[in-house]
Amino acid sequence: MVEFDFPVVEVQEGKAKLLVPDLSRYDHPAHAPVFFNPAMELNRDITVSVMKALKPRDMLDALAGTGAKGIRVMLEAGVEVAFNDRNPLAVKFIKENLSRNGLKARVYQKDANILMREESFHSIDIDPFGSPAPFVDSAANCLKNHGILGITATDTSALTGTYPRAGLRRYGILVGRTSFMHELAIRALIGFVVREFAKYDIALRPIFSHSTLHYYRVFFKARYGKIRATKAMKELKWLVYDRKTEDRWYSDLQERSFENYGPVWSRELWDEDLLGKIKGVSGEAEKLISLAREESRFELPYIDYHVLAGKYGLSLLKMDRLIEVLSQHGISASRSHFCGHCFKSDAQPSEIASVLESNG
Ligand SMILES: C[S@@+](CC[C@H](N)C(=O)[O-])C[C@H]1O[C@@H](n2cnc3c(N)ncnc32)[C@H](O)[C@@H]1O
Repeated sequence: MVEFDFPVVEVQEGKAKLLVPDLSRYDHPAHAPVFFNPAMELNRDITVSVMKALKPRDMLDALAGTGAKGIRVMLEAGVEVAFNDRNPLAVKFIKENLSRNGLKARVYQKDANILMREESFHSIDIDPFGSPAPFVDSAANCLKNHGILGITATDTSALTGTYPRAGLRRYGILVGRTSFMHELAIRALIGFVVREFAKYDIALRPIFSHSTLHYYRVFFKARYGKIRATKAMKELKWLVYDRKTEDRWYSDLQERSFENYGPVWSRELWDEDLLGKIKGVSGEAEKLISLAREESRFELPYIDYHVLAGKYGLSLLKMDRLIEVLSQHGISASRSHFCGHCFKSDAQPSEIASVLESNG
């Protein structure tokens, strides 16, 4: 066994036995010599499920840390993975963890942007500290036709509009605080990545998206071709928001008298075929996937029921009852993974409020 000059422990996650820094010695996982965050297990669980369902020929774990995600993908999805991290200590962990799990793989110690210019893969995972923006251009040069790209963003304050200038600087997208900020954030992130790939005549389409308190995560499928890339760009729109009524809609142009955010991705956040193929998932990931199955048909951002009730003076119903009442009035709605008191619908909040007012 290799030696580290700081305390390490072995943890079990999924099917993997992982040697990681002993986090009880640090205030935050980011302060350990190599990054491993147990709170990102859901992110890794979902990646395993997506890879298991899609079975790409290989995957680059471009910012691998201890190798936790890629090792789980090898063990649980049976996909060949290449690992990279520019931190030599991370590479030491990756090699040790591969050997602990009886695996063999290519391991690089490079700047991910250089590696992604030198080699190409059928799937790439980008899991940085903060913003993925600095890696997206190289990923476009590295991903094969029909490839899968998984991207994590932990710079939630730039994407939710807490710091709109950061959103503009990093992503070239106008974001602001809204009652549907997590969906605006995911749609802004997708908008940015779609645009970056379109420069190289590659069309991206999101196939799985999820939002948590600390990060956003999106998987995309790539198809090469100018016409397809132009078509993907056409799905980037302004999200127009009427704060008085809570109504919101997509538009090709900014509209006066309303707030305009974008350009953002205006279409579906999940691929229904993929959702149907994901099997054998449990715990948090299962809850998330079953909510995604319910909400995947809606393209408008979720409605925050507390905000709606506050604005229109409505009394609150239980979420299941709310959806039932709306459906009795011909309005289709579903729960949403974005938050427990949020729901999705293709009806506008003002219409929903008037139905609920008349319902008593
Ligand atoms: C958030 S951690 C990855 C966590 C890992 N995916 C997991 O699931 O445990 C980000 C990693 O990226 C590495 N890194 C940061 N910038 C890099 C770059 N430009 N090239 C290669 N690795 C980089 C860091 O050393 C760190 O290990």
